[in-house]
Amino acid sequence: MASDSLSITDNRTGKQYELPIADGSVRAADLRQIKTSDDDFGLLSYDPSLLNTATVRSAVTYIDGDAGILRYRGYPIEQLAEHSTYLEVVYLLLNGELPNKEQLLEFEEDVRFRTMVLETVREQMETYRYDAHPMGMLLGSMATMSTYYPASRDVMDLESRKIQTVRAISKVATVAAWCYRHTLSYPFIYPDNDLTYAGNFLNMLFRMVEPKYVPNPVIERAIDVLFILHADHEQNASANAMRAIASSQADPYSALAGAIGSLSGPLHGGANEAVIRMLQFIGRKDNVPEFIKNVKDGTSGRLMGFGHRVYKNYDPRARIIKTLADQVFEVTGVNPLLEIALELERIALEDDFFVSRQLYPNVDFYSGLIYQAMGFPVEMFPVLFAVPRTSGWMAQWNEGVTDREQRIVRPRQIYVGEGERDYVPINQR
Ligand code: ACO
Repeated sequence: MASDSLSITDNRTGKQYELPIADGSVRAADLRQIKTSDDDFGLLSYDPSLLNTATVRSAVTYIDGDAGILRYRGYPIEQLAEHSTYLEVVYLLLNGELPNKEQLLEFEEDVRFRTMVLETVREQMETYRYDAHPMGMLLGSMATMSTYYPASRDVMDLESRKIQTVRAISKVATVAAWCYRHTLSYPFIYPDNDLTYAGNFLNMLFRMVEPKYVPNPVIERAIDVLFILHADHEQNASANAMRAIASSQADPYSALAGAIGSLSGPLHGGANEAVIRMLQFIGRKDNVPEFIKNVKDGTSGRLMGFGHRVYKNYDPRARIIKTLADQVFEVTGVNPLLEIALELERIALEDDFFVSRQLYPNVDFYSGLIYQAMGFPVEMFPVLFAVPRTSGWMAQWNEGVTDREQRIVRPRQIYVGEGERDYVPINQR
């Protein structure tokens, strides 16, 4: 009997099976041979919300949630946040290796070359209502791109994939900034390609009447680091949505729209917005113990920005963001909600309710405080997450469409509805 295998006895039939184990997993499809009779469909694995199911083999991002480790292509997030730039990290995510100087310059130029969006996208954006949520505007505008770039449907074409990848990463910043300008009824600002990716993003967000926008270097670097931290996070809900939609060979803009929709929820990328609303609701540091008590009783909802499906330790990104916040607050002034957040963290980390459930601050706990200090309204927070996550989604997409093991995603269900019954005319019901 092979040692890397799992022996199963089906007590319904007394039959024995041996399933190979590879990479710490058994193949769910191997369970199908386990049947009670020839016409039995075979054993299914039931895994609501995919809590214990690997759906891909991926070489992009590694997370060890128990140890609080995050690496892109093997490089620790702490080193990338300290030494790298966002576009260098994007190159790494897409290509698997860090670029040399020439490769980086060429890639930066490529991204810069595509920062303009079609005027038709702009015109469409102007039709959104004045109070439209920016995340909905981003979703709609990115989806619209599928109508302008028909070649994007040719997902098996390597050259087309390369173009769509850079195009999406480049244009998402322009569209995101315009979502913000639209909420203010301000004129849209066109890209300034003298600036870095982060600097140009700030330009398109905040430039008023000055002929040339000069970003504050601390804020520009902070945005760049935040973008590095948010670039990818392996198979989360939105990456899974991206891959699932793309598994039908739909174009990447349609898949991106789905991923943005998934990210918009308060349990995912909408959490940093929910954190600020929670801190505003708490109002004062003195109210924190009462709020924590209510969270534990279940009368105040969850402690937003705490807990993570994968991290059962301090989220390494939250640690970096906490330090970054101090640098940003030196420029912007301290966000008054910070002291409430620090008190929440202090009390929660000493409280058995949170400790026993391994609930620690996640990436969203402090990022919203920084964004708010920079002047962003809370509705923009998930958009600020979606801009850098677009690079991760595109890396996951490229990996997925070229993976020969992947087919169209089609989960099974356990049917719990009625058995067959006859239609009853309406006057007899
Ligand atoms: N506050 C209070 N209790 C919590 C919290 C929280 N933030 N998170 C989990 N719990 C409790 C649950 O009530 C549950 O308790 P129980 O065992 O007594 O029923 C236990 O901890 C386990 O919770 P689950 O919901 O099973 O954990 P899951 O892995 O499904 O959820 C999630 C992870 C969605 C992130 C959750 O922790 C949460 O809702 N956090 C708040 C929202 C948030 O910050 N989301 C951002 C995540 S990071 C990101 O997407 C970028």
